[in-house]
Amino acid sequence: MDEVALHAAFHLEPPGAVPLADHELHVWAVPLHGDAETFAASLSPGELQRLERFRFADHRRRFQIGHGALRAILGGYLGVDPADLEFVQGPRGKPYLAGAGPYFNLSHSGKLALIGVSRIEVGLDCEKVRHLESLAEIARKHFSPAEFAALERLDGEARQLAFYRCWTRKEAYIKALGEGLSMPLDTFEVSLGETPAVLQCHDGREFPQHWSLLDVSPGPEYVAAAALRAAAVAVRCFRFLMTG
Ligand SMILES: CC(C)(COP(=O)(O)OP(=O)(O)OC[C@H]1O[C@@H](n2cnc3c(N)ncnc32)[C@H](O)[C@@H]1OP(=O)(O)O)[C@@H](O)C(=O)NCCC(=O)NCCS
Repeated sequence: MDEVALHAAFHLEPPGAVPLADHELHVWAVPLHGDAETFAASLSPGELQRLERFRFADHRRRFQIGHGALRAILGGYLGVDPADLEFVQGPRGKPYLAGAGPYFNLSHSGKLALIGVSRIEVGLDCEKVRHLESLAEIARKHFSPAEFAALERLDGEARQLAFYRCWTRKEAYIKALGEGLSMPLDTFEVSLGETPAVLQCHDGREFPQHWSLLDVSPGPEYVAAAALRAAAVAVRCFRFLMTG
């Protein structure tokens, strides 16, 4: 079954229906099933080239739907044809709209893409929860000593949830900064509990009180976080409505 279970807060909405207010984050859940051809005409030559590099048809289809939906959503905010949007990249590959327009960030996992859109620079990460044999090994390698110690105090499902919370929160912060893997993961610390927070920034450039870290998990099988450099952010969640 292709259907992705989403929380009720993610209600169906066509792109462009809800304007984006300052200090809002709109989170769009995009199920990556359905007819990818709907989006074929809106992708750029560069996106079509990337599409061709996927070996598996299913990966091609997911890319086409994810990037087609991204164009449809951003086109909705700007009131322009999705095919007319142009993107540029930051120094480490983070995509931005060329010219005026909101910030956005995309993440995909399993059969879902999650897209955050805001007038504030945003990073977002979404992971489908699955059992990981090497959970402790990954955490030891990527988490800070304090984060790893907090994880080690937990067992079973609570431990798995804390792992995914830590992972997506760290990744969302890195993605907000646009740094990718160039950024050492022990230069900052996040919470592992229910309340998301940037706890420490050790680099002398960022300060925890300047950041909002938000739980934007779209459904029971997923954990997701968004990071924005702003003291307060209001979140609204939507499920992308595919129109053909
Ligand atoms: C590329 C990276 C930014 C995210 O990769 P990821 O988690 O594998 O993938 P996601 O699906 O969450 O995000 C990919 C999307 O982020 C966007 N992106 C690409 N480079 C980016 C950057 N430097 N900053 C922010 N966003 C970026 C793109 O839209 C990309 O989608 P596309 O490839 O379809 O164009 C990078 O941080 C990375 O490779 N991380 C690896 C994971 C890791 O070690 N995490 C440690 C956390 S504890």
